[in-house]
Amino acid sequence: MNAVMDNIYGRRSVRAYTDEPVSEDKIMEIIKAGVHAPNGANTQPLRFAVVTNADKKKQYSDVSKALFVENMKKAMEQAAPDKKRFFEVYIDRLSKPEFDIFYGAPILVLIYSSPESFTPVEDGSLAAENMMLAAYSMGIGSCWIGFASPLGYVPEVFKELNVPEDHRLIASLVFGYPKKKDMAPTQRSEPKITAWLR
Ligand SMILES: Cc1cc2nc3c(=O)[nH]c(=O)nc-3n(C[C@H](O)[C@H](O)[C@H](O)COP(=O)(O)O)c2cc1C
Repeated sequence: MNAVMDNIYGRRSVRAYTDEPVSEDKIMEIIKAGVHAPNGANTQPLRFAVVTNADKKKQYSDVSKALFVENMKKAMEQAAPDKKRFFEVYIDRLSKPEFDIFYGAPILVLIYSSPESFTPVEDGSLAAENMMLAAYSMGIGSCWIGFASPLGYVPEVFKELNVPEDHRLIASLVFGYPKKKDMAPTQRSEPKITAWLR
């Protein structure tokens, strides 16, 4: 295999980080890898906000958890009885004050798309994967934090990160040095091919 394939197969989501800081040069290199991802019509609509301040990350984690729990409670009310357990598990986990949705990672990067893009989700997601793979190639772990998605609806967060309110939060990624070295990649099933018309 070549280095790119090794990288794709070796990466995994990291949920425990050391306190070792990642240099700003490396953070910029990772973001640059995101900018080099394919994007619809090459509008280059993405904006990146970086948060390394520990108090701010804690505040963002707490705000996200509260909003997520609120939404899950509403969704649970509408859910079929056999689906309620799914919500209960998440509500329970996110209600714990000690649970940090960012897993103590030293860096949080929020990826926003400007309204110019016709394909904001695709553009932001491709950038996110480029960034996670670039990080992995540098020995830096990462995880996409969907639990932080409520931050995309908090005007104060847009304001303090200098993001115009018409932009959309697409991805929240954390980065840092993994606590455990040489973690095995998360298992995958074989590809499910529905058809191969020859
Ligand atoms: C859109 C999206 C949202 C995710 N949100 C979270 C999250 O909030 N917390 C978390 O621990 N992992 C999150 N993940 C990571 C997935 O759980 C992980 O990618 C999946 O279990 C496969 O594992 P791997 O990345 O190690 O291959 C998210 C991944 C994606 C793509």
